Amino acid sequence: MSKAGTLDLASGVGGRISKDDVLSAVDKYEKYHVCYGGEEEERKANYTDMVNKYYDLVTSFYEYGWGESFHFAHRWSGESLRESIKRHEHFLALQLGLKPGQKVLDVGCGIGGPLREIARFSSTSVTGINNNEYQISRGKILNRVAGVEQTCDFVKADFMKMPFPENNFDAVYAIEATCHAPDAVGCYKEIYRVLKPGQHFAAYEWCMTDSFDPNSEEHQRIKAEIELGDGLPDIRSTRQCLEALKQAGFEVIWEKDLAMGSPMPWYLPLDKSHFSLSSFRLTAVGRFFTKNLVRALEKLSLAPKGSERVQAFLEKAAEGLVAGGQKEIFTPMYFFLARKPLQDGQ
Ligand SMILES: C[S@@+](CC[C@H](N)C(=O)[O-])C[C@H]1O[C@@H](n2cnc3c(N)ncnc32)[C@H](O)[C@@H]1O
Repeated sequence: MSKAGTLDLASGVGGRISKDDVLSAVDKYEKYHVCYGGEEEERKANYTDMVNKYYDLVTSFYEYGWGESFHFAHRWSGESLRESIKRHEHFLALQLGLKPGQKVLDVGCGIGGPLREIARFSSTSVTGINNNEYQISRGKILNRVAGVEQTCDFVKADFMKMPFPENNFDAVYAIEATCHAPDAVGCYKEIYRVLKPGQHFAAYEWCMTDSFDPNSEEHQRIKAEIELGDGLPDIRSTRQCLEALKQAGFEVIWEKDLAMGSPMPWYLPLDKSHFSLSSFRLTAVGRFFTKNLVRALEKLSLAPKGSERVQAFLEKAAEGLVAGGQKEIFTPMYFFLARKPLQDGQ
């Protein structure tokens, strides 16, 4: 699925962190989380450090396992994971009604897999905003390979404080990224500010569903595992996201947890009972293989010290995600389409 090989995985662990500091970065990262005694307020106050450490540590693992797009997808039976990921991106472009030549913003763009796909699908110019320098350096290389470097670009900045004028973009989307925001209203307000009046914002949000019981220890453990394994300050509920959109000024056109209507569960690629050759690296057998490979590479000093620990918290994430999906208490695809009114109330 990914073109990234074993040595790319090993040499990429740590991103922009110096190789000698990877192990201590893992220590610091883990300490932010509940599983290691960390507190939500601390994660929110230090979200830039926490999220950047996370993506420096995991990006090469993501690229090795998932390819260029770092997100889950609604999936039909008979559809490969790769096909479903692309269709999930095309769905967003169609919902936004993108037209050739429009100027689009991708909020929290990763290494730009969705950005390149959506730009080519809709003949638009897409700017990706991302606060992680290592991912942007990967994205620029991949944009050149894909031949979209004239129409698509990256901006290194925090999506809570965007360096764009107001009313600047014809459309904005976010794929599994704004869950990293310490405050949803603040994040959606920034998106509202840079979007032209009358235009649309669409997203796939990571959320706890109505089935999540905050008084259940098991549910809280699963939530904490997902937060640790995915660099999140606190996973919001679907209701909180909906309320935050309205508070930011958006008119919500429609919203739905797309996991509910997905013929194949979104977490299938990570489920221990599932095996697939085409997404082998994501399967339990593939992850076991990767774990031993990373251990060997670390022993041979081909991967920095701490790499195995990164693989271990990603394994925790996989377990938490599958449990959250099976219990239907968590979704990575709470979809909404929202519109910035032309003027107040129109
Ligand atoms: C799970 S990845 C999704 C990437 C991309 N949307 C995709 O689907 O491939 C989340 C992304 O959000 C970015 N991100 C998180 N917090 C951010 C912030 N405050 N400002 C800008 N980017 C941020 C991360 O660096 C990462 O690229």
